[in-house]
Amino acid sequence: MDLGISGRTAFVLGASTGIGYAIARQLLEAGVSVTIASRHNVSLTTAAHRLSEFGDVATLVVDATDESASATLNNHFKDDTLDMLVVAIGGSIRSTFDELNDTDWEANYALNVLGPVRAIRTLVPNLRRSASGSILLLGAAASKMPYKNQVVSNVHKAGTLALVKTLALEFADDGIRVNAVAPGRTKTRLWLDRAATMAADRGCTPEQILEEFSQEIPIGRFAEPEEIASVAAFVVSERASYMTGQNISVDGGIGRGLL
Ligand SMILES: NC(=O)c1ccc[n+]([C@@H]2O[C@H](COP(=O)([O-])OP(=O)(O)OC[C@H]3O[C@@H](n4cnc5c(N)ncnc54)[C@H](OP(=O)(O)O)[C@@H]3O)[C@@H](O)[C@H]2O)c1
Repeated sequence: MDLGISGRTAFVLGASTGIGYAIARQLLEAGVSVTIASRHNVSLTTAAHRLSEFGDVATLVVDATDESASATLNNHFKDDTLDMLVVAIGGSIRSTFDELNDTDWEANYALNVLGPVRAIRTLVPNLRRSASGSILLLGAAASKMPYKNQVVSNVHKAGTLALVKTLALEFADDGIRVNAVAPGRTKTRLWLDRAATMAADRGCTPEQILEEFSQEIPIGRFAEPEEIASVAAFVVSERASYMTGQNISVDGGIGRGLL
């Protein structure tokens, strides 16, 4: 499908690996010039090298949870026009409510809420210069269906939904659409690391952990990052030009709610 975005620009925050990397690849394949960002130069440069076969890619090292991120983004983008902003950072902590302290809450808030907010606030002037600006956030199945022992990200990913709805209203007059894609369990570092830790605790293999968690998914398996990215690329593109304020589940059917 022609996404109608060839020749445009995108910034994908959190794209050295995982879902953000897969989104960057799909945007490059659609003819977009993409800047990818993450915290670590080596993995980011490696990612850019792999992505360069698909199109025009630049890199930016930034920690979105640090308040210096705004200056870093401003210095990089200056007065440039930006057509698409994708924020693919985020994560969760598997813990009971009792085990979590203020530091856990603040760190997860910085990653899931304040970091994305900071990036949007800094780059919205660049998006306003676009004829059709578009912002995409990464929610989670948990934003609609809270999981036991994941209260921190349940709360913060629900915040992503509220952020998307509010910004869709506030930025509509600027011609900027704001949406989210909400992945279910996806085979990225986030889950592979978690499976390795749980396997070590239980004395089994990471594959057995993934198989156990797959059994709760109607489709019967984890998503590949590309399966989330193809929906994300559509939502952020011109093909979804009448869609704003939405949170699109791509979760293999694990979400049980009607809405
Ligand atoms: N995977 C899943 O099953 C799943 C399920 C539901 C929702 N999601 C959501 O989907 C999004 C992407 O998840 P993922 O699984 O692709 O994650 P991932 O594999 O852990 O990748 C995260 C990316 O963001 C970068 N990053 C992390 N912290 C950053 C920071 N403070 N500043 C800048 N870059 C940062 C990472 O690189 P560095 O570490 O080098 O910075 C990496 O490139 C997240 O919002 C996540 O909550 C994922």
